[in-house]
Amino acid sequence: MENKPSLHTSLSPALLHLYDLSSSIVVIIDVFRATSTIASALYNGARCVIPVDSVPKAIEISRNIDGIAAGERDGKLAEGLSHGNSPLEYQREFIENKTLVLTTTNGTRLLHMALERGADTIISGSFPNLSAVCQYLVAQKKNVVLGCAGWKDRFNLEDTLFAGAVINQVKKHFTIHCDSSLMAEAMYAKHKNNLAGFAPKLTHYHRLVERFGLIEDINFCLTPDGANVLPIYKEGKLVVEQANS
Ligand code: MLT
Repeated sequence: MENKPSLHTSLSPALLHLYDLSSSIVVIIDVFRATSTIASALYNGARCVIPVDSVPKAIEISRNIDGIAAGERDGKLAEGLSHGNSPLEYQREFIENKTLVLTTTNGTRLLHMALERGADTIISGSFPNLSAVCQYLVAQKKNVVLGCAGWKDRFNLEDTLFAGAVINQVKKHFTIHCDSSLMAEAMYAKHKNNLAGFAPKLTHYHRLVERFGLIEDINFCLTPDGANVLPIYKEGKLVVEQANS
């Protein structure tokens, strides 16, 4: 019988320590909005995205390399920064050939946690780059941990739905003995034909749309393959992995 790699889903950063990352590809998932923004910036020609865990670091690094310091705290533009965490802010005319130095409440934090826990490989995933993520995971034939960023360690549904979308496409290539993964796929199967209709129930939808009016961000973040690149973490930066490399 073929020995297939394993696939697990960590539903919150608080659960990440339960998984063996050292032999796994870790997919950082923050659908609203960090990993959708990373896909958008790289798709539109950013040289790379440097994910950092604090605003002062984002400012310092971007000064040294003439990059764009960007990010949010609690969904709002972070104090001291002039660019936020909207995927729509990073259109080609603005971001092409520039370096984005990004700090966010949950997504970039989870990436740093995965690094600290010795992840073998880190990529970032969101609906805008769903196909690129699935193709990469199937091609690599390695264990996978789908890491949901959630909200301040709490579970969230949008990241779980994306994990379910990935599982739905790749499951026949993996051994999945993981109830979080089974639940994620079942949630996705239930809502996949109407993600936009389900979105208003989500907690972060309320934060982003009712408080800040960001419905266009939500629509972009829920549209599959709108920025279909594969961001991979190499030497401190998220860069586009070229097919077959
Ligand atoms: C995060 O990393 O917490 C976010 O992407 C929040 C947001 O900007 O919506």
